[in-house]
Amino acid sequence: MDALIPVFGKVQDVLATLGSAATIPLPQVVVIGAQSSGKSSVLESLVGRDFLPRGIGIVTRRPLVLQLTHVEEGSAEWGEFAHQPGIKFYDFDDIRDEIQLETDRETGSNKGISPLPIRLKVYSPSVVNLTLIDLPGMTKVPVGDQPSDIEKQIRAMVLEYISQAKSIILAVTPANTDLANSDALQMAREVDPDGTRTIGVLTKLDLMDEGTDAVDVLCGRVIPLKLGFIGVINRSQQDIINGSSIAQALEREHTFFARHPAYAEFAYRCGTGYLSRTLNKILIYHIRNALPALRSRIHALISETENHIGLLGEPINATSETEKSGLVLSSLTQFCTSYCAAIDGTRTSFI
Ligand code: GDP
Ligand code: NA
Ligand code: MG
Repeated sequence: MDALIPVFGKVQDVLATLGSAATIPLPQVVVIGAQSSGKSSVLESLVGRDFLPRGIGIVTRRPLVLQLTHVEEGSAEWGEFAHQPGIKFYDFDDIRDEIQLETDRETGSNKGISPLPIRLKVYSPSVVNLTLIDLPGMTKVPVGDQPSDIEKQIRAMVLEYISQAKSIILAVTPANTDLANSDALQMAREVDPDGTRTIGVLTKLDLMDEGTDAVDVLCGRVIPLKLGFIGVINRSQQDIINGSSIAQALEREHTFFARHPAYAEFAYRCGTGYLSRTLNKILIYHIRNALPALRSRIHALISETENHIGLLGEPINATSETEKSGLVLSSLTQFCTSYCAAIDGTRTSFI
């Protein structure tokens, strides 16, 4: 998100002078896909912080609405949950624990799900004001305390978020499964048939069978998507167990694409970095589109303020305290007289 931060900072400075009257409606990014396809991992590497529960099986069991908020360079980074207002989390491990605890509070600890979102705000100098939404993965067979119609319930949850026109859909499909079976792509197509706000994300390229590659998919020869398919490699479960960092994972991802005989020639448009730059471009496009409306809003505010000043009448030239109280007193008297006259008027009209 680095390239966007300076642009965003400038726009925000302008907005700040206007108070809460004007905002730029930035899009929200929604991650969808089958269970364990790597949704939470993709979001984490986009934010560049370890804070989401990830793993095998159903880990994300409630929507997580993650509101990133840009703060001044040099400020501390912290998170705050809507369900615990005023409590600042400075340690991202604690944030992950709290997401897990809050998930269990609502759904129990036996794999239950709930559409009630967990809302988390992250304040950081290295983010732009953007909302990212992590969703439970699509599954078919109920396990644990899951209802028999789990598939239907999760689809409804996913639809609620991706049908919003301001949602950019990251449709995640693991490269070691068949694209034709991708629930993510199928659902994205339902709400975005022209594919103008869907980015295909292909995860787990490192886990493909020997001798196979995803070149055809990445080049749009299998399923055409306007915004294209981007291949990424997230940390494996073993990496998570070993405690390897996001930075290390990004480095390895880069090396993988650069050295792979099938991907090397278009390695520049592979990986998490490229996904992030693609999102940046979409965001800049949105900001640019919002500027004319913002300009009219500023003009409207100026004339509104001028009218208001006009209504306030001539400036009062009282200097001493007695003069001021005299003025207030005479205004009050004038007010009372008019008020009584008005009341009398009403009475007479009723008789
Ligand atoms: P989600 O259920 O879709 O949110 O998926 P998670 O992000 O929780 O990931 C599920 C599991 O797949 C975790 O064990 C991850 O470490 C692993 N995983 C995700 N992406 C990749 C990848 O690109 N390569 C490898 N090897 N493992 C991955
Ligand atoms: Na998972
Ligand atoms: Mg998840």
